[in-house]
Amino acid sequence: MIETKRWNIQNDENYNKQSIAEAATLIKEGNTVAFPTETVYGLGADATNEAAVAEIFKAKGRPQDNPLIAHVATVEQLRRLVDNLPTYAEKLIDAFTPGPLTFVLPSNGACAENVTAGLSTVGVRIPDHPVAQQLLQLADIPVAAPSANLSGKPSPTNAEHVWEDLQGKIAGLIDGGPTGVGLESTVIDCTQDIPIILRPGGVTKQQLEAVAGTVMIDPGLANEKEKPKSPGMKYKHYSPEVPLLLVAGTAARMQATIDEQQIKGNRVGVLASEQIARQLHRVEIRNLGANLHEIASNLYDGLRAFKQGDADVIICEAFSEEGIGQAVMNRLKKAASEIIR
Ligand code: TXA
Ligand code: MG
Repeated sequence: MIETKRWNIQNDENYNKQSIAEAATLIKEGNTVAFPTETVYGLGADATNEAAVAEIFKAKGRPQDNPLIAHVATVEQLRRLVDNLPTYAEKLIDAFTPGPLTFVLPSNGACAENVTAGLSTVGVRIPDHPVAQQLLQLADIPVAAPSANLSGKPSPTNAEHVWEDLQGKIAGLIDGGPTGVGLESTVIDCTQDIPIILRPGGVTKQQLEAVAGTVMIDPGLANEKEKPKSPGMKYKHYSPEVPLLLVAGTAARMQATIDEQQIKGNRVGVLASEQIARQLHRVEIRNLGANLHEIASNLYDGLRAFKQGDADVIICEAFSEEGIGQAVMNRLKKAASEIIR
């Protein structure tokens, strides 16, 4: 166990500046610090320091073959980590940075081996969050940062989630309140003739296509038989503490599944949109919101809400795969132990 220092971002400029500077110093000295981004909280360490990066893997219990994203403050810093930027990547950088998009590019070797898990490519992202931006500017080094959760659990969208998973295992935590997007960045492979989405996320396929023309989706994401191109996508992820049933269809269908589970004697927790939640009865419900953006933002908190001991099973609505819905459903399919169609 190590002591985890915690700073709360406040309405006090000076206090915040000092806190973020302390956090940046800890990172420069080879320690791990969790910080908010616009997607989810990240667990950061100096991406050029192999021993520091090893501490991230240790704290999370993360498999060694799963590469990390290097976070930087500016496009100029991004260029210092990569060998070559295709024209379409330049356009995507102009349009979507800073923002929830991670670029997989040929690595020039500036990051430590364990950041890239021995691959010839590196994932780089410029986050759009004032705390992350200040931290990266002050640290003035690339910061490797996976989501700040224990491996396999839902990503953290507030500081309490991070505390629950990593307190005593990391050097610091900057509490900047809840994140906005609520799902991780879109990971896009920019090493081929056309860009390939390796992980759907905060920037949608439609948004990317409007800027870069045709964009492919890694066939390994939809097809169980094919191996995903991104090492992280092969793992079971986002697992709640109790089994999750994903139910496609109407409120009546959801209610029937709830009734069936209750007859078996199971305590049921429900995750649903406001529209469906209104129509369900005799069950504890977490309303995730009225539209897909709200649902994305509240999803991980919902997945963490039903603990072992409080519920035996979670029943979750299957949402539309339009826009950000594609990322929402990608995560839910991984979290589900059964999909009821
Ligand atoms: O929004 C986000 O991306 C958050 C915040 C903290 O920035 N970070 C995040 O990191 O979600 P992580 O480690 O939980 O997920 C990174 C994903 C993994 O699936 C990993 O395999 C993939 O990105 N990845 C990283 N580098 C890669 C590379 N060089 N080639 C292919 N996939 C890569
Ligand atoms: Mg993660």
